[in-house]
Amino acid sequence: MSNPSILILPGDGIGPEVMDQVVRVIDWYGAKRDLAFEVSTDLVGGAAYDAHGVPLHDDTMAKAQEVDAVLLGAVGGPKYDDLDFSVKPERGLLRLRKEMDLYSNLRPAQCFDALADFSSLKKDVVAGLDIMIVRELTSGVYFGEPRGIIEEGNERVGINTQRYTESEIERAARSAFELAMRRNKKVCSMEKANVMESGILWREVVTKVGEDYPEVELSHMYADNGAMQLVRAPKQFDVIVTDNLFGDILSDCAAMLTGSLGMLPSASLGAPMANGRPKAMYEPVHGSAPDIAGQGKANPIACMLSFAMALRYSFDQGEEAARLEGAIEKVLADGARTGDLMGPEGGTPLSTAEMGDAILAALDASL
Ligand code: IPM
Ligand code: MG
Repeated sequence: MSNPSILILPGDGIGPEVMDQVVRVIDWYGAKRDLAFEVSTDLVGGAAYDAHGVPLHDDTMAKAQEVDAVLLGAVGGPKYDDLDFSVKPERGLLRLRKEMDLYSNLRPAQCFDALADFSSLKKDVVAGLDIMIVRELTSGVYFGEPRGIIEEGNERVGINTQRYTESEIERAARSAFELAMRRNKKVCSMEKANVMESGILWREVVTKVGEDYPEVELSHMYADNGAMQLVRAPKQFDVIVTDNLFGDILSDCAAMLTGSLGMLPSASLGAPMANGRPKAMYEPVHGSAPDIAGQGKANPIACMLSFAMALRYSFDQGEEAARLEGAIEKVLADGARTGDLMGPEGGTPLSTAEMGDAILAALDASL
């Protein structure tokens, strides 16, 4: 059998520099754990636009459909702000999500003990936090029609449509309940059923799916209250399931609970392929951070943790995923810090590559 395949799309900004460190980790698994991958690399976002005039070339899209997993860095940057909407870097990312039909976006927010002081919230509110946001990723207002900017009388009108079918809600909900069964058996569903019909349907369908999981405690919250509860008492949650737009906003909020956006990975999963693996793309939640791009300052941990999620969800290597997560926890406990993790007491931050060195050394030590 051939080695599992990974397509790496480093993208823009800090994407390439954090991905360089992930490639070192992938190579480590090949050399030290007999876990070799067939790795190829291609362009996405502004980098693809510069080369091809589109944020995702059709050939790259086709490759993404064939591989066992895609690892993506980040897309976007000020250089591309004035591009036509249809070729903006973000369109490349959204096309991958839509055409691979990656409907279930898992965004864990976990607070590492060593970093509990970095949160803008009080330490006891976040210490030990471990929640999972399941964001529906292929529908809702991100993709609903009609959309556009039209002329009406003597002014223009901007239009987007929130639209969810029952089956779209059902499959996202099901993945949330499945995850909850492997965690603390609690799901909180968030919508705005008080103002949106799509929210009423969301609540109904999630409730129906919940009947198949009698062991899981299901609750419902309006998304605005959910945002408030996330910063008031985040540890009340286990799995949160929500739509595409609310999930975008709530996951940034949850991310900051953990101290730094530079720490959070994500997995976007679709239906199983012929080989039984789910269609999958893994990416750090942080963006392209153009302000620090190219300076070797970026924190590679979110991208590495995204690869750990790939080991777990695509390659059935839960123990090896835990090994990588453990190595990261160890270097943080030992005081390794990139610039985004520097406290008021200061010190000299590690460069992106030095953080990579520390994590590789911890991986070696784990053998
Ligand atoms: C995210 C990002 C994207 C989104 C952007 C870059 C299109 O904010 O993954 O959360 O809005 O989904
Ligand atoms: Mg976002």
